[in-house]
Amino acid sequence: MQSSSYPRYYAGFEVGSGISGLKVIPVDGLPMGQDLVTLPSFLADGDISLLLKSGDTDATLSSILQPGDYVLSWQDRTYFLGNLLAHGTYRDNAFNDERRYWSDHAQMLLLCLACILIPERCFELRLVTALPVSLYNRERRQLVRHALSQTYHVTFNGREREVIVRCGYVAMEGQGILIHYGDETSEQAVIDIGERTTDLIAASGQRLIGRLCKGDQFGVGQLVEDLQQMGLEHRRKITTEKAHALLQAYAHQQPYPPIKTANGHLAAEHITTTIEQSIQRLARPLSSFLAGAWNVEEAPPGSQFDTIYLGGGGAYYFEKIVRATLQDCHIITIPEPQDANICGYADLAQALDEDRWEMH
Ligand SMILES: Nc1ncnc2c1ncn2[C@@H]1O[C@H](COP(=O)(O)OP(=O)(O)OP(=O)(O)O)[C@@H](O)[C@H]1O
Ligand SMILES: [Mg+2]
Repeated sequence: MQSSSYPRYYAGFEVGSGISGLKVIPVDGLPMGQDLVTLPSFLADGDISLLLKSGDTDATLSSILQPGDYVLSWQDRTYFLGNLLAHGTYRDNAFNDERRYWSDHAQMLLLCLACILIPERCFELRLVTALPVSLYNRERRQLVRHALSQTYHVTFNGREREVIVRCGYVAMEGQGILIHYGDETSEQAVIDIGERTTDLIAASGQRLIGRLCKGDQFGVGQLVEDLQQMGLEHRRKITTEKAHALLQAYAHQQPYPPIKTANGHLAAEHITTTIEQSIQRLARPLSSFLAGAWNVEEAPPGSQFDTIYLGGGGAYYFEKIVRATLQDCHIITIPEPQDANICGYADLAQALDEDRWEMH
């Protein structure tokens, strides 16, 4: 396939089970106002005419869209994302469907994130993305690479766009942290605790050691479920968004958004206790997963590594448990742990050889 003359961007992309994100680096090196964006990993089917109905009689799509509202149309289908999710139908995060890493789920999230960041009508993305350890194999990596690499004609918030995507490499989830923070020579590892998956990556320099890379299905999502259960005990429906807002407030020691009940609202101490008990409930499975994966003879688990990097949004909640389990290890909790992977994938995209971008 011929390469285009459109403006090009290197890009790091992640389809998280909770949050998806894109980081771009313009090939021409010109600075951008914003180069990283995240969205909840949900799509809903959208109906633009229904949306227009609720506005003025002469309303146009662009006149009724508010910041954070995203409408994407592709191949006769219209999707609502971001703040418009609640206005759509069949809201879905494709959880439990491994195809979500290469199906239209991943494609639409990618295109929406890219159109938010990139102003040009036509542009090319040179992309690196990832699969969780539990799904990482040659066949699925090929599927991702080929499915995402296309020329897309879409309409984003009422404006036509042409987006050429070339996926040059599919990494192992967590490897972005290794690329962004790790070095070229030492024995190093990454713990990436996400919404639903926890990925353990081990490497000698930048070379992965497959038998020490493991994935399991737990993460911050269990805290969300426990908060929702707490709500039900008080006859309140706590949405996933609200639960995330409570967790965010807990992590950054901010006041909780109020949860109203029939006769007042839930006490802050009660919410804190629920979150702390929920974190504690995960202590055993998380500890035994870590200790089992990186067990070594005659020395504490994890002690084969010079440095272990802790990342993913779960770092805000599970750092204490990780440090208690691997107490003899040198653990670095990375800054902005939820964004480190996509920065690493974008770095890798920039470093790949030119022939990687030719699709066969
Ligand atoms: N800045 C933050 N402060 C507090 N909590 C956060 C922050 N960013 C993310 N989180 C929490 O961490 C959770 C997991 O985030 P992360 O982006 O690592 O998961 P994911 O990549 O979507 O999931 P998975 O890796 O399982 O596919 C989020 O759902 C959110 O609750
Ligand atoms: Mg993740």
